Amino acid sequence: MTSQHEPSLGRSEACANIALAKYWGKAPTGPNLTAVPSLSLTLDALRTRTEVRLDASLPEDQVFLNGVQLTEKSSERVRRILAQLRKRSTDTRPARVESYNNFPTAAGLASSASGFAAFVVAASQALHLPLDLPQLSSDARSGSASAGRSLFGGFVELLAETESSTPLAPPDHWKVCMIVAVVEAGEKSTSSTLGMIHTAQTSPYYPAWVERSPAIFQEIKQGVLERDFERVALYMEHSTRLMHATMLTSLPPVLYLQAPTIELMHAIAERRRQGHPEAYTMDAGPNVKVLTTQEHAEQTISYLRSVPGVSQVLCCQPGPGAALLALEGPLSDAARQVELT
Ligand code: PMV
Repeated sequence: MTSQHEPSLGRSEACANIALAKYWGKAPTGPNLTAVPSLSLTLDALRTRTEVRLDASLPEDQVFLNGVQLTEKSSERVRRILAQLRKRSTDTRPARVESYNNFPTAAGLASSASGFAAFVVAASQALHLPLDLPQLSSDARSGSASAGRSLFGGFVELLAETESSTPLAPPDHWKVCMIVAVVEAGEKSTSSTLGMIHTAQTSPYYPAWVERSPAIFQEIKQGVLERDFERVALYMEHSTRLMHATMLTSLPPVLYLQAPTIELMHAIAERRRQGHPEAYTMDAGPNVKVLTTQEHAEQTISYLRSVPGVSQVLCCQPGPGAALLALEGPLSDAARQVELT
């Protein structure tokens, strides 16, 4: 039995994920359900650690990201999910949420994905709720749809109009790397949430994207299951270009791509023609993520480091699902406990 006089703690770590088959746009059928299916790879090197402390002495919920307290507006989704989780618990105490990313925030590197995934696990632990993966995935998705995928390791799918993501294949299924070329590490110009609403409302290409996405998703899924690099490369790039085409053709346009992004699209396509197993994908930002094999990763990294306009290169292997962290000592050093299953 836990006393409400003692603070109650939860701690978790989750990895970011990058979609090989993208989602862009919400379904009209439910809150924060996606209009199209997506398939992602969880990335071991991009991690968020979150601690949730329930404490009766706090005046209200407080949310900190990388040591800085968020405003009421920017912490709105976190506070809404806390309220949602409290309804399933008997504990109504205010919470202090502290979250740290080991990579640039809001630059199309899926910080909201790892952030919401780590947050729902830590909050559920602090509230003594069951750590049920489909429920946690659904809770994370209600904050950021891509976050529902970060509960699981390896290759993960999120079907259209579906509450929880499901694991497709574990991290060791396929020895690939996703190499992130950071073109611009600042905050993105338009949030993905606003960008996709605007796109759906104004791009004449949006219906074609929704119509075409399930077939592209199936190609990528089969390619992943069969470890067929060429097939995944072809359709992963097609998925990202179709998604960005809807953004570019919205009015006014949502343009995330920068000059080095476009140059890299040309260069990676040319390198693949020359035999390098490399394929690109971009999200709601200008950074380019290059899929390659683990065998080829060193060559891709040294190439990307030599490209003008690329400020940082991060190498990510398939990563694990969300895990609990030890509750003692500083959050940054806390050992990973069991991964959730
Ligand atoms: O769910 P959000 O708001 O993190 O949107 C993510 C959208 C993309 O990253 C562009 C695509 C995807 O499937 O991750």
